[in-house]
Amino acid sequence: MKKKYTIVANWKMYWDFGQTIQFLKDNSEKLITLGDKTGNTIILCPSFLSLHPAIQIFQKSLIKIGAQDCSSYQKGAFTGQISAQDIASVGCSHCIIGHSERRALCGENSETIAKKCLALLEHKLQPIICAGETSDEHKEGKTYEILQAQIMPVLSAIRSRKSVVKTLMIAYEPIWSIGTGLVPDNDHIESVLTHIKRLCDEIVPHVTALLLYGGSVSSKTIVQFLSNPRIDGFLIGGSSLDFIEFSTILLSCWHVIPQIDGGPKK
Ligand code: PGA
Repeated sequence: MKKKYTIVANWKMYWDFGQTIQFLKDNSEKLITLGDKTGNTIILCPSFLSLHPAIQIFQKSLIKIGAQDCSSYQKGAFTGQISAQDIASVGCSHCIIGHSERRALCGENSETIAKKCLALLEHKLQPIICAGETSDEHKEGKTYEILQAQIMPVLSAIRSRKSVVKTLMIAYEPIWSIGTGLVPDNDHIESVLTHIKRLCDEIVPHVTALLLYGGSVSSKTIVQFLSNPRIDGFLIGGSSLDFIEFSTILLSCWHVIPQIDGGPKK
């Protein structure tokens, strides 16, 4: 049986509302067909403003829509923040939390990210938890230590609340790989993901960990990752903004020679 991947498109703050809707109008039918045909789960994460229209466009399809962040608070006087409840109420199914850009630019720490995770679970949203080391930490051999410090607060929070969660999506995103074209070798990714899986099995044994890789995933680099048995899916930034590039990745995950309009003859 073919492996089914989970593909998350993180559109960050690249497009304004009009550009996002135009992309969706131009490509939604093709994306739906690609999702159906390949059996991959596609999760699109546009800006907050585009969530509702995106959900309407894809409401009769298997394409899922996720937010890129949420507040760690439930509700109240938190000007400018968006709650998990709000995200759930427009019909999202997923939400990215702990992205390195938020950790670095917005000063988010792992305890805040653990709170966000609980807020999402309370509203039956699937968190996509990001973790990864900087280039210096990588060179100093601190990758495992850093990942442990980032992931443990989330796992402990889930365990202490006995949250009803069956699967947890964790994306390993080495910061030095994001947007740089540099990618770790397969052995490194495999041992990091094995380490994350072990942590999950130890702390939250009732949860199935779905392990993603993110960082310079493109139509060129994808081939390397597909031979890695530990990778369950991908978190894709830049390459998800170009339809041809994104669809080539999706088709590659179907283990076929990329070909947008036909797919393999069975
Ligand atoms: P990239 O970004 O694919 O552009 O490297 C990945 C991410 O930041 O999630």
